Amino acid sequence: MIAQHYKDMLGAKSVIREISEWSTARGKEIGYENVFDYSLGNPSVACPAQFTQTCLHLLERTDPVALHGYTPTLTLPEVRAKVAESLNRRFGMDYTADHIFMASGAAGALAHAVRCVAVPGQNIVTFAPFFPEYKPYVEGAGLTLRVAPPRVEDFQINFDALDALVDENTAAVLINSPNNPSGVAYSAETLTRLAAYLTAAGEKFGHHIFLISDEPYREIAFGGLEVPYPAKFYPDTLTCYSFSKSLSVPGERIGYLAVNPKAEDAAYIVPMCGQISRGTGHNCPSGLFQRAVAECIDLTSDLSVYETNMELIYAELKRLGFTVNKPDGTFYIFPKALEEEMKKLASALDKPAQRKQVKLEELQKEEKQSVHPTEKAKTQQVQKAPKKEAEPKQITPKAPGMQK
Ligand SMILES: Cc1ncc(COP(=O)(O)O)c(C=O)c1O
Repeated sequence: MIAQHYKDMLGAKSVIREISEWSTARGKEIGYENVFDYSLGNPSVACPAQFTQTCLHLLERTDPVALHGYTPTLTLPEVRAKVAESLNRRFGMDYTADHIFMASGAAGALAHAVRCVAVPGQNIVTFAPFFPEYKPYVEGAGLTLRVAPPRVEDFQINFDALDALVDENTAAVLINSPNNPSGVAYSAETLTRLAAYLTAAGEKFGHHIFLISDEPYREIAFGGLEVPYPAKFYPDTLTCYSFSKSLSVPGERIGYLAVNPKAEDAAYIVPMCGQISRGTGHNCPSGLFQRAVAECIDLTSDLSVYETNMELIYAELKRLGFTVNKPDGTFYIFPKALEEEMKKLASALDKPAQRKQVKLEELQKEEKQSVHPTEKAKTQQVQKAPKKEAEPKQITPKAPGMQK
């Protein structure tokens, strides 16, 4: 008998995947370069030429038996050391190789993180809006995902909503900054308050509450913003990172989990990841790509196109009258949906006698923020990034004071 649980999941189609499939099909009709496909979070810029060169170099000059062999259960020590050094240099942390575990992207890191700190029956709290895959990541580990509504004016943490959801069964709080899809990065003030809250809640419930910080968009920050590093604020933090977006290599499935050395039982967590990998089958990510990202640890693709696009789309949404926060980073933007306007239109159209009089323009007058729902955003100038590999960008710590 096949597993009913996964069979049931087949009914819950992902809207993102549906749009992606539609875009691919449309691309076959009119050329994919003519389709603005905003579905999957695939980078639109090429990886740095140096990344390709590094891979070629590794393929040409490394003993193939060693290069393509299994990597250790806890992943390659020299790679883990390079990740630790980079994080220490950039964020003033004190990681060693023992605190780093290479994983299959942020998804793999999250799969390990939730299993490290929670047991079936416990819950993990996150904040809306959130990356929809958090549900399968968390539920797949036998846990419940609780979702706190956001503080809509700025999408920082709504602490009252958080407090209403945290209880004795809460194992961790899961954050994502800069956020998919709001584009908002948590400020130092928010993270300071979150750390105080989690410390107090941990004392109240008699166990540490971990912070799982999902950071695949850490490097995509706008206006020179230095995105605050959550582990700097709270000791019990597991940082989940992916090179998918920073180096534009999502297909290579490479990232890491970093355990704050000050976390409870920090010394056990990476060895535990080795055990978790055995059970989940997420073990030993590609040796080639572990080595390649270590060689390019402080590089990114040319990510500037995302800021250019954000400025264009943001300005146009504002011009059209949308309520929208200006993203701090990522390649997402999150305007307020025209729900109220649509409800009014739908109810008006339900009454045939009124149909003729109902003009959407009249509804617009009532609501200052309204725009014609079918008016097409003029985003034609939005850049499609060049296909060829871009010049790499060096990650350099930014001036203090740029922190949000
Ligand atoms: C917020 C967030 N977390 C995690 C992931 C998973 O990252 P990866 O595909 O690199 O594992 C994504 C991917 O888009 C994401 O947007």
